[in-house]
Amino acid sequence: MAFDPRQIMKAFPILESGTGKNTLHYLDNAATAQVPNAVINAMVAHDAGRRANVKRGIHRLAESATAAYENARESVARFIGVQNPAEIIFTSGTTHGINLLAHSLGNTLKPGDEILLSPVEHHSNLVPWQMLQDRFGIHINFLPMDDNGLIDTGSITEYITPRTRIVSLSHGSNVTGALTDTAALGDAVHEHGAVLILDGAQVIPHGPVDLPALKADFYVFSGHKAYGPSGIGVLWGRMEQLEKVSPVFSGGEMIGDVKLLTSTYAEIPHRFEAGTPPITQAVGLGAALDWLHRLDQPGLNRHLMTLTTQVINGLQHLSVESNAIRIIHPAMDTGRLPIISFIVRGIHPHDVCQFLSDRYDIALRGGFHCAQPLHEQLGLPEGSTRVSLAAFNTQEDVDILLEGIAECMRILL
Ligand code: ALA
Repeated sequence: MAFDPRQIMKAFPILESGTGKNTLHYLDNAATAQVPNAVINAMVAHDAGRRANVKRGIHRLAESATAAYENARESVARFIGVQNPAEIIFTSGTTHGINLLAHSLGNTLKPGDEILLSPVEHHSNLVPWQMLQDRFGIHINFLPMDDNGLIDTGSITEYITPRTRIVSLSHGSNVTGALTDTAALGDAVHEHGAVLILDGAQVIPHGPVDLPALKADFYVFSGHKAYGPSGIGVLWGRMEQLEKVSPVFSGGEMIGDVKLLTSTYAEIPHRFEAGTPPITQAVGLGAALDWLHRLDQPGLNRHLMTLTTQVINGLQHLSVESNAIRIIHPAMDTGRLPIISFIVRGIHPHDVCQFLSDRYDIALRGGFHCAQPLHEQLGLPEGSTRVSLAAFNTQEDVDILLEGIAECMRILL
């Protein structure tokens, strides 16, 4: 069946008011996407019918909850093309995953070792590494980007050195929507004996990914941007790499044998999931990825790229006479995500968002989008306004967005 966003919309209770016309135009999906009934129902069914702790109780509910939790791990593995579900570690989100790696891999670094990042990174892929600088005497280097924020991964051989231990990059930008060209990365990183981490927070919401083909060693993402609940995310690692990672959090359920002064650890992935995990959220994430997996992927992709092109063309049209709009718009040979950031010269991004929310019930994000260095390098000290699309967005959302921006420019400029 052809992809029909109107049918998709019906699966999202927040978009169906039930009491007259719902005016919401939700275009802030890169911050958090909405959840479909399939996810809400799965979480309610779990808490209503099989709520118990996992991996410890020997009773019917505990076994059922454990099975649901492990089934969710298998759903994640299927979605990202991974054969061994033990390589999936549940975290609280992308930030948690990167921090876990930074703290664990950080302990193996020596003064003078180097980490390679890019200026495009979300703060969660900058600050955890910054924290290692003083503690371990390491250096952070940056791959260059072009004038529109596309990471120049082709130049990796110029920037990676024998001292580089970790290369950690966004797989897709939460500001520009650019997909990072990963083709040259894995081999170059591994030839230097370093590890490659990719931040897939913005990529996973747009369909299944063949992770092994990316040649990354670790991959992180969040549930709440992929139609799932907040408080859950994933750290995937190749098993041979995970075996080298020491746990950062410790306590119940991550142990094998505990003595008063020493302990052994549980098998992977459990050694990285100390304490009671976010069980209901894991069930919700599994349901979200299963839901997304069932959609017509080529149809979904065509739909999102059609809307993205309409937003870009519409903004360019509004700017034709006044040159008032600048779109952050890298040339993307490798494809792009349905995320478009722009500025209206003379109107602060927060004012654009406030105007469109107040008058049109449009949800956008304005500011730095947790990527302040990127905006500063792009010469945008006030940040930008971001439109980020999801499966439930429609032509009407785009039409009203463009009408609202035109009105905003008429009134505020
Ligand atoms: N990382 C989220 C964003 O880009 C919050 O908006």
